Amino acid sequence: GTFTVRAPASSANLGPGFDSLGLSVPLYTTLRVTPQATTEIVPLGAELEGTPADESNYVYRAMGLAARRAGRPLPPARIEIETDVPLARGLGSSAAALVAGIVAGNELLGRPLDELAVLDVAAREEGHPDNVAPALFGGIVVATLDKLGTHYVRLDPPANLGVTVLIPDFELSTSKARAVLPKEYSRADAVHALSHAALLAAALSQGRLDLLRHAMQDYIHQIWRAPLVPGLSDILEEAWKHGALGAALSGAGPTVLCFHDTREPTAPLHAYLNGVMARNGLEGRVLDFPI
Ligand code: HSE
Repeated sequence: GTFTVRAPASSANLGPGFDSLGLSVPLYTTLRVTPQATTEIVPLGAELEGTPADESNYVYRAMGLAARRAGRPLPPARIEIETDVPLARGLGSSAAALVAGIVAGNELLGRPLDELAVLDVAAREEGHPDNVAPALFGGIVVATLDKLGTHYVRLDPPANLGVTVLIPDFELSTSKARAVLPKEYSRADAVHALSHAALLAAALSQGRLDLLRHAMQDYIHQIWRAPLVPGLSDILEEAWKHGALGAALSGAGPTVLCFHDTREPTAPLHAYLNGVMARNGLEGRVLDFPI
């Protein structure tokens, strides 16, 4: 019969955890799948206007990846697709579609793939696991992808940690935001990145909210992407003065993520972030989420 699959949005990198660290954000891509004699792909809602309603649809192609890994043909079905994840904003909309599709395809096939195989199919397709891992498991996930496979550790989010996201109204493609990155880094930059990413993962696992601001420093991707996101440098330097526990570009941007303490009011942070947008002539939304 009919079944439903949903996968959350995600924020990748969290500063220095480039391509390896991410957390889920409670906005969802939802699929309603009904096995039937023919394939029917039905994108619903404003956010999916203009997405293909045929077999070139990304969700449908993701379902096909599950079938390919299982070595079996995908049974036909009616697939309704809905999302409230904003597209091309650095909130993992493609990872949510990919994970939801692979999980739905696996379900339609009678679950031949275990969770690690689902993760591996998704991570190989995207090229890095930092969005697909939290989209699959929820919470905060540290993940690696290499020749030998995909490996991960899921962390429960620390108590009292919430996120505030500034979602600008403009789209930024991941490929454009990856094209501006250097091909090579110095040993000093590599040591800076790995030590801060390791500190960040350890701080998140132990609830050391006091360390986030320091641990989230990054010279691997944010400085190169700053010209693509007006106001980013200001926020990375100053958000802590307005109540943020740490700040980072969300994935490839343009969304910016701040951590906050859920016991404190976020109004000052909202006022600051809205001010940065106004000074830079940007439109957008500032939203709080529990994690
Ligand atoms: N780690 C990726 C990046 C996430 O920053 O490019 C976006 O896909």
